[in-house]
Amino acid sequence: MPELHVVVLAAGKGTRMKSRVPKVLHRIAGYSLIQHVLHAIEPLRPATVVAVVGHGAADVRQVLAKQPGLLFAVQEPQLGTGHALLQAEPLLADRAGTLVLLSGDVPLLRPRTLTRLIEHHHERRAAATVLTAMPADPSGYGRVVRTGGVISSIVEDRDASGAEREIREINTGIYAFDLAPLFPALRGIGAANAQREYYLPDLVRIYRSRGLAVETLVADDPAEIAGVNSRKELADVEATVRRSRNDDLMAAGVTIVDPATTWVGPEVTIGPDTILHPGVYLEGRTRIGEGTEIHSGVRIVDSEIGARVTINNFCVISQARIADGARIGPFAHLRPESEIGADAHVGNFVELKKTRMGRGSKANHLAYLGDATIGERVNVGAGTITCNYDGVAKHPTVIEDGAFIGSDTQLIAPVRVGRGAYVAAGSSITEDVPPDSLAIARGKQVNKVGWAARKKKKSEG
Ligand code: UD1
Ligand code: CA
Repeated sequence: MPELHVVVLAAGKGTRMKSRVPKVLHRIAGYSLIQHVLHAIEPLRPATVVAVVGHGAADVRQVLAKQPGLLFAVQEPQLGTGHALLQAEPLLADRAGTLVLLSGDVPLLRPRTLTRLIEHHHERRAAATVLTAMPADPSGYGRVVRTGGVISSIVEDRDASGAEREIREINTGIYAFDLAPLFPALRGIGAANAQREYYLPDLVRIYRSRGLAVETLVADDPAEIAGVNSRKELADVEATVRRSRNDDLMAAGVTIVDPATTWVGPEVTIGPDTILHPGVYLEGRTRIGEGTEIHSGVRIVDSEIGARVTINNFCVISQARIADGARIGPFAHLRPESEIGADAHVGNFVELKKTRMGRGSKANHLAYLGDATIGERVNVGAGTITCNYDGVAKHPTVIEDGAFIGSDTQLIAPVRVGRGAYVAAGSSITEDVPPDSLAIARGKQVNKVGWAARKKKKSEG
């Protein structure tokens, strides 16, 4: 097998995106377009990978800084795809073998298709092989012109005649080349076209005129080679990703009530018999167990959710852990390092941060619990607030097993409520409460009998 090298073109501005962000850094399923492309070539284990950068080069390099072994070539100014590939020549000068050329804006490409392209290229002993496709709508793409069934040129959409626009077979912008004749031929490309650019697809005509064999291979699935040139195409490709991800999840036993509005990231795992309602977003490294139900409008990031958990509408959960059988929401906010024990309840308008809540404990209404360690079977009343911040530092609150915190309590940290203790409603707790005791820390009530009636009489008289 000849050695394999890859060049990814990523220098273009992406004018049609109307963006300050370089096109290849726009994201799909949480990753930039070019990261998807680099991910697809990993299984091929190429000897060399070169990214050609130019527009927004510093930003692109930064996003790709952690890609092992990736080389960069700079194209400045950007004079077209043919000119872009030429910039990689110095990095490939002492290499031989096969070069696979990819566009940084074609993110859905599968490794299997690339393997097929390379195999076909070798079997036919071609100098160049063009991956083509037959999409339902070929507009915008370069068209494959054939004479006597053999590819003779590729004509760009802007330069195509009316008849050429009718051609359904398109250039995917993905090619395999034998390295030996590539760069000499590339120098033969001119810029006499609608965009005054050096078009890489012109190589086909040059190869044919030099008697070099050009082959084609038609991709099985046109959706896979969709290029992203506009925001509309970005959304279309995102929808394709979402649909196929949701199809896989449903095949694995997850109920998705409305797949069109449910977004599950590529690294998320979900157990069977879990139900996702419309408008659920599951992101990052989130893991969800079996038989859990997640209602509409919930967003979960980098969190671990157990089995048979109910998450009611409109909760935001980030870097949290929720054990089996717990009930969350509606309208709860679980912030990083929150841990909810088995069968615990966190109700509406309750916010937790860096707080552990033990098995069977409840905070059902309107509470802020930060930097707190809450034991098992604790009842946290409505309106309870841990006053964890004194303007300088954060302080911990501990509530031991079986304690009862009356409504509208302020726990002024650092403070500890002992096992089985009661705190009376409306208390401001500044000192530790011993186990099995009752703490009352509020103003004493005074009733002035008849006071209101006397006041009324006075104002009437
Ligand atoms: C290109 C092909 C077209 C094909 C389509 C498939 C050319 C001239 N046309 O068109 O035949 O059907 O892809 O998706 O090649 N780039 C550079 N430097 C430049 C210009 C572009 O690095 O000077 C990079 C872009 O960043 C992008 C890729 O090359 O990743 C393709 O460029 P783009 O302008 O998107 O080409 P298309 O018009 O889509
Ligand atoms: Ca493109």
